[in-house]
Formats: sequence, structure tokens, C-alpha cells
Amino acid sequence: MAPKQIQLCFLEIANVGGYMASGQWKRDDDTSLTKDTLKYYQDLAKLADRGKVSAIFFADWFAGFDVYGGSMDEMLRRGHQVAHLDPMLMLPAMAACTDNVSFAVTMSTTYSKPYVLARQFSSLDHITNGRCAWNVVTSHTNSSARAVGYETITPHDERYIMADEFMDVVYKLWESSWAPDSVVLDKETGLAFDASKIKKVEHRGKYHMVSGRNQVHPSPQRTPVLFQAGTSKSGSAFAAKHAEGIFLNSFSAAQAGKVVKDMRAAAAANGRDPQSLKFFPCIMPIIGATKEEAAAKLAKALEYADPVAGLAQFSGYTGVDFSKFPIDEPINLEGESQAMAIQACFKALAVSEEESKESWTPRRLGMRMAMGGLHPCPVGTAADVADVMQQWVEEADVDGFNVGSITNPGSWTDVVDLLVPELQRRGLYWLDYAVPGGTFRENLLGCKTLRDDHYGSTFKWGTEKAQVIDQIEEPSELSEPKEEAAPAAETKVEATVESKPIDSTVAAPAIKV
Ligand SMILES: Cc1cc2nc3c(=O)[nH]c(=O)nc-3n(C[C@H](O)[C@H](O)[C@H](O)COP(=O)(O)O)c2cc1C
Repeated sequence: MAPKQIQLCFLEIANVGGYMASGQWKRDDDTSLTKDTLKYYQDLAKLADRGKVSAIFFADWFAGFDVYGGSMDEMLRRGHQVAHLDPMLMLPAMAACTDNVSFAVTMSTTYSKPYVLARQFSSLDHITNGRCAWNVVTSHTNSSARAVGYETITPHDERYIMADEFMDVVYKLWESSWAPDSVVLDKETGLAFDASKIKKVEHRGKYHMVSGRNQVHPSPQRTPVLFQAGTSKSGSAFAAKHAEGIFLNSFSAAQAGKVVKDMRAAAAANGRDPQSLKFFPCIMPIIGATKEEAAAKLAKALEYADPVAGLAQFSGYTGVDFSKFPIDEPINLEGESQAMAIQACFKALAVSEEESKESWTPRRLGMRMAMGGLHPCPVGTAADVADVMQQWVEEADVDGFNVGSITNPGSWTDVVDLLVPELQRRGLYWLDYAVPGGTFRENLLGCKTLRDDHYGSTFKWGTEKAQVIDQIEEPSELSEPKEEAAPAAETKVEATVESKPIDSTVAAPAIKV
């Protein structure tokens, strides 16, 4: 049987300085300080095209991390995950450099307005010819809440309930508002758009209100490809319902395999083809033409690595201030809240201790974060790295990798020039895009718009849900979150994700000493 072919994305963030690896911006051969220029992003798009990379995936958030030592000072001093531009603005210029590479951009359902976000993605989808994806996040930090005007962050599970309602609203705008034959543009008759086929969306929910047509006519994909990364109970339920791509942060293939299996099963329970969810774990390889060259690249990267910045980053991901622990003693997380955490980070920490039988100290953890993080960071030849990828595909049933860079753009140049040819030789990677010049969804899933078994398709024009969007229900008692998933009704909030307070108040398991 032919091996399963994987796809690659580049994992990027639009900030000046370090993202996944800290301190490397100080090197002469690193271009991270030019990430406030268009040229940087256009060069990256051209490189990705040369490597037949599926997408450039922009992580993003507001504010930044002020958990380590109770401030953002170390992140600022060390040039790590700060000075952070809005990625949405680079995408059109990048898209102009390639007909094939797609662009995933992160936006928050907690701080965006559905109408505004729908318009932005419809516009982006038009001008990229369908090469865009939305990484749906709920935003997990207090600093982002405060930056955009809230006293404090909305509780964890409630954010996912808000997000679930948000999705209903944007599906209505993208899928229901304009009929497929509403765009006439007939110069002879002078009819531009058939007004009878363009409906106003009327949504009055607990969290979101919209009264209006999508401002933009249907774009190639209508709904952008949907990515998601949360792995808590509510995060996974959300992904099983909405996500087409899932971005994983797993320490080992065994850990990833369990997430993939559970999420595919949850998707199947929602009536979806489990294989239509595509899983992309993060990987940060150091690749050399020979093992010796790779080892030399590692040694050089270690010279510049900044473990304090790494620890400050992990503090931001978990909401735990790692500056308070003795630097060389095993970390004890007993009693620490996970309320403001990327839960996958706690899980990766626990799994890595279990598997390596070695406990983390702040010094070790900081260095590991500085050199990539708690996901695979293989060092070797292209064949060595391809072996690791192959093992993950076989053991964890993943569909591709989100490749981060240690040094910029050197790590990605090595992927394109060394790894891609090796993967192609093994039949693990396409020789060309499935649909050159096609949409992201065509290249990822083989179809242009949402699959019929995707929840969002229930909003398509002509479906029962689409037909009732003009009806406004009387403002009613807003339904409280329910314990069981329930089909969403028009204009009402339905708690379709697990809504019991679960992880948010539970203390982290003690890290074994
Ligand atoms: C691999 C990975 C990447 C993420 N990237 C982002 C990001 O770019 N921006 C953001 O605001 N949150 C990001 N998150 C956070 C999640 O979207 C989510 O808000 C957080 O993990 C809390 O949800 P959970 O408890 O279900 O994990 C990421 C999480 C993971 C695991």
C-alpha cells in the first residue's frame, strides 16, 4: 500500500525577534529582526512555494505574556514574542508571490465581532483565490482580556460556549446569506446581484447579535478552512464539531496518537468522516547535509539560546509563574491553577516526565523551550528527520506537520532543500500540489467548500436552517449552558460543547519528583 502522504505548513508569527526558539535573532545569519518588512514575508511565501508547502500558519494573540515575574519585562528585554504585527495585513502581499501557498491566520472568537470577522475572511478568501484558513482561538490570557477592555478573562468553558455561538453566526453569514446564483453581473441586462437571493442574517443570541447580509458576495471557499488547537474537554468537543485542521502540541507520537484517536472518534460521533480532520503536530527539526553538519548547527543554536525567555514563554502558555521555582530543583505544580492555560502544555510536561523518567527543573525546561518546546525537535540528516515524521504518521495517524524554525529562514530553507526531496523520494510528500493554483480546502480535503458532513454545511443556502434566517425570535430568556450537546436552534444560544466547569478550576497534577 502506498504510504500516507503528509502536508507541511510553516509555523510563523509576525513579531520582530524570537517566536518558538528564543535568542536566535542575535545571530548574524538570522533574519528575525526584519519581520517588520514586507520583504521578509514575501521571501517566506516564495520559499514555501518552492517547497510545495501547503500553508504558512500565523499564530497570533493580543498583548503578550506578563506572567513570568509578574510582568512582560523579560519578554521585552530578550526580544521574545513581542513587537508583534497584525498578520492579516501581510497576507495579500504574500499571496501575490505565490499561486499555491495558503495562509492560516489566528483570530479570537472572544474579542472579535462575527460580522466584522466574516467580512475580513470573505475578503481574504476572494483576493487569495480561496487560499485562506482561520485558526479559531478563544484567547487564554488575562493580559489579552485587559488589553481589549475587559476587567478579567471570561471563564474557560464559557469562552468555548461563546465560540460555538460565534461559529453559528459566521456560518450564517458565509453559507446562508447569499444564494449560489445571487451573483449575476450581467452587463446586457444590467442586473448585478439578485436581491431576492441575498438574505439578511438575523441572529440574537446570548453573546452575539447580527442583523445584516454578509457584506461580501460568496468567495471561493465561502467558509475559510477552519483550524483549532485547544485540547481540553471543551476544546476537543469544539474541534470535533468545527475544525478541519487541528494544530497539536504533543511531546511524543504516543501522546499525539491518543489525542488524534479520541478526536477522530468524537468527530465520527458527530456524523463526520473521522479522516476529514487533518492533524498537524508542531515539529522543529535541525537538519544538516550530514549528521556532523546537523550537530554543528545544534551547537551554534545552543550558543544563542535564551532559557529565561523560554521559561517566560512557557509561563505565558500555562499561566504559571516559573520564576518563583528554585532554578535547579524539580518543578512542583501541585496546587497551581490551570485556569489560564494552553492545556496541551501541561499535558506535554507530564507526558515528557513520564516517558523520560526525568523531572523538569526550571533551567532544563527553559532550555528546552528556548530550543523549540515540548514537541519533537529532531537533529540529523533529512533521512533522520523523515524517519521521525514517518514514525509519527504510522503511530499517531497524523496528516502533516506545522514546522517551526530554530533559525530564520535557515531552518525552513533546510526543510525545502533537504527534507522535502527526501520525503518525496519516500513517497511521503506530493511532487506537486494536488490542485496547483487551487483553494486551500481543495488541496487539503479535495473539495472547495465545506464538506456535506461538516456542521457548517447545515447552514448552506437552501437548507432548513438557511431558510429560517430571516425570522427573528422574540428576545427570550437566554438559555443557560446545557450539560449535553444539543442541536443548535436558530437565533438562540445552544450549549453545543461540553459546558460543565471542568478543567478551569482543577489544580495541575503534581509533577513527579
Ligand atoms: C499548538 C497550539 C497553538 C496555539 N496557538 C494559539 C495562538 O496562536 N493564539 C492564541 O490565542 N491561542 C493559541 N493557542 C491556545 C488555544 O487556542 C486555546 O485558547 C487554549 O489552548 C485553551 O484551550 P484548551 O484549554 O482547550 O487548550 C494554541 C494552543 C495550542 C495547543
